[in-house]
Amino acid sequence: MTRRSDDRRAIVVQALRDNAGGVSGELLATGLGVSRVAVRKHIEALRELGYEIEARPGEGYRLVSPPDAPLPLEVRPLLHTDFFVRLEGGQVTGSTNDDARSLALEGAPEGTVVLAAQQTSGRGRLGRDWSSPPGGVYASVVLRPAVETPEAIVLPLVVGLGVARGLDALGVHTRLKWPNDLLCEDSRKVAGVLLEGLSEGWRIEWIVAGVGVNGRSAPDPSSSASVDELSGRRVPLAALAAAVLDGIAGTYLRWQTDGFAPFAVEYEGRSYLSGKPVRVCDAAGRLVAQGDVTGIDALGRLLVVTEAGTVPVVAGDVTLREV
Ligand code: BTN
Repeated sequence: MTRRSDDRRAIVVQALRDNAGGVSGELLATGLGVSRVAVRKHIEALRELGYEIEARPGEGYRLVSPPDAPLPLEVRPLLHTDFFVRLEGGQVTGSTNDDARSLALEGAPEGTVVLAAQQTSGRGRLGRDWSSPPGGVYASVVLRPAVETPEAIVLPLVVGLGVARGLDALGVHTRLKWPNDLLCEDSRKVAGVLLEGLSEGWRIEWIVAGVGVNGRSAPDPSSSASVDELSGRRVPLAALAAAVLDGIAGTYLRWQTDGFAPFAVEYEGRSYLSGKPVRVCDAAGRLVAQGDVTGIDALGRLLVVTEAGTVPVVAGDVTLREV
């Protein structure tokens, strides 16, 4: 779909929303400056996207229901930021991170987003699969931070905090399991964050920040929880996507100007691991540190008190240790 037809469809959807009783094809055609045949084509395209639109002879078109999916047409009007310059996707894809990566390699600007309500090959951290059933929000944002590569090590925490703030806005309160898992009160996982990127020496070319949120249901109810379950209501997936994106834009933009220090206290307050005994391993499964977590420092490192002293951990996979 071209940008122009995208804009026209957004106008059609808005007109249908504003006129609950229906709007004539003629009025839509005049408003858009196109023929009535072209209007019919836009209506057909919207139906294919999942919009239920009734056509009544002599009366025009009426929106019966919009699709429950994080479609750009649904998400865009709910955003409170102009950071997201381009929104793509919305229904099913392989992996939004793969899609966003391709766009980044083609030169897509910072603030480009790929959205989906289902993924067929979702990826998690450390080469794991990310179960992505329908009814979720899977989003990947292209970032081009103006910092040197080592500074971006803290970015997963910044994005995770943004997602947590977004979920707060929907009444779903989460804790952060360093570096970037979002857990509910009983420790089940609600959302996860996966950052991938390309840098040339100290210069970052692009980073794709991928977020998966369990919307309608949890893949494994013993270890994961959904936003619907935790909020006690059916949260529209477009509203969920917009809240998460707003949250990410807020923390990311502040981090760009002020670094991680302004977030350290908030992250600490939400930290699931603080005070807990842990084992931290690297991607190859080698032990990095074992001990009790005392907190997170101003650089976003996990502080683990080991027998040899406090180890500031930059990256790793954390498991809770039986004592
Ligand atoms: C994790 O907890 O292991 C991170 C999960 C990240 C999943 C998201 S869903 C959107 C984006 N696309 C992917 O394939 N993965 C990320």
